[in-house]
Amino acid sequence: MKKVAIYLFIVAGIYSCKDVVNEVPDTPFNTTPYTLNYPTNILPPARVPSDNPLTKEGVQLGRMLFYDPILSADSTQSCASCHNQADAFTDNQLAFSTGIRGTLGKRNSMPILNLMWHLDGFFWDGRSDILRHLALVPIEDPTEMDETIGNVLVKLNNSPMYTDAFKKAYNTTEVDEELLGKALEQFMLSVVSGNSKYDRVQLGLEEFTAQERTGQTIFNSEAITLNNEPNPNQPKNFGADCFHCHGTGNGLFSRREYLSNGLSDNGDLGRGGANGNPLDNYKFKTPTLRNIEKTAPYMHDGRFSTLEEVVQFYLSDMTETSAVDPNDAPNLHALKDSVYLSEAHKAALVSFLKTLTDEEFLTNEEYSNPFK
Ligand code: HEC
Ligand code: HEC
Repeated sequence: MKKVAIYLFIVAGIYSCKDVVNEVPDTPFNTTPYTLNYPTNILPPARVPSDNPLTKEGVQLGRMLFYDPILSADSTQSCASCHNQADAFTDNQLAFSTGIRGTLGKRNSMPILNLMWHLDGFFWDGRSDILRHLALVPIEDPTEMDETIGNVLVKLNNSPMYTDAFKKAYNTTEVDEELLGKALEQFMLSVVSGNSKYDRVQLGLEEFTAQERTGQTIFNSEAITLNNEPNPNQPKNFGADCFHCHGTGNGLFSRREYLSNGLSDNGDLGRGGANGNPLDNYKFKTPTLRNIEKTAPYMHDGRFSTLEEVVQFYLSDMTETSAVDPNDAPNLHALKDSVYLSEAHKAALVSFLKTLTDEEFLTNEEYSNPFK
């Protein structure tokens, strides 16, 4: 990029010396790289598409679009209407979102964070695999923004604010579908959460309370059932097996697979409905647990209101449906049958989950409404 800028500068210089060109030359396409700030030893290396590198101009443009109701048919709803920063970009504690015509959606809004590392697709059923394509789906969804991409492009091309911003970010005089998707992709990729208490403890900057530490052990340990002999060499044998699916190893708190956690089915086929494979029926994207304190209600249909209810579900209401992976069944069973988890242990597990709240992320100006 630098090379191009210098070259254009020289060309402009020659012309002005000779005094041939009177009009101001086009601003050279010169963007500023956007720096991602996160603990690289906890979260994986950045994954940004090579044809859409993060630039300050691109991220800022995406942020404008994300917060602008111009994307909806009647200018009442923006992406942020259902993805509110203070709720970790979920929908204001609602189980289902309401679209512009008052239609109720069928699934719980999902958090927008650390999407850079979601390798296996987006939405609860993974039906969209590329972020820039996903970004256009809510615009045309009749239960969401109910607008056509064609109309949005007309509105954006008629707006000097946007044509200027697209010119700065992508050096284009025309806003098209691809660039609209790419700009939204840039903003969403820039939204990273990696400064929770959990992270600061990993970095040695803070310490867990005794209760949080107990919760972490429970989260990361196998459950022991009535049928298993408690292992004398493993004194803290009261695990809840959460790590099998919400593993901490990659820092994302998700195994990044479509799984069933034994929820009773509500008719939503999940992954199977999207890919047509009956073996995937009733499986859903394993969600991250980062900022989970802020994203209530829980599950793809928002059926649980509190983390205590979620923990209670895993401990007593989980049912082994055919959707449960046979490899996961023993873990889920062990958890259900666990006789070692006391009320104090459950409270400790919840207190550990709350260490994943990242206040800096929830209030970070760079992710906030740029029009305020
Ligand atoms: C009317 C509410 C509503 C609006 C408006 C809305 N969303 Fe969503 N969003 C949802 C719901 C509900 C889901 C889950 C849908 C599903 O799984 O079928 C979702 C899922 C997502 C996801 C998937 C996250 C993941 O982890 O897979 C992304 C990304 C996203 N939305 C971005 C956007 C963008 C960008 C816009 C604006 C162009 C937008 N949303 C507008 C409600 C909304
Ligand atoms: C077999 C894999 C598996 C295990 C084990 C598991 N989970 Fe889950 N978890 C999932 C899946 C899949 C979902 C999404 C389910 C859905 O909505 O259909 C989920 C959803 C959740 C949610 C709701 C997230 C949201 O955004 O709504 C929370 C909270 C949660 N799990 C916590 C836990 C805790 C705590 C444990 C340990 C007690 C645990 N999970 C064990 C797979 C698992």
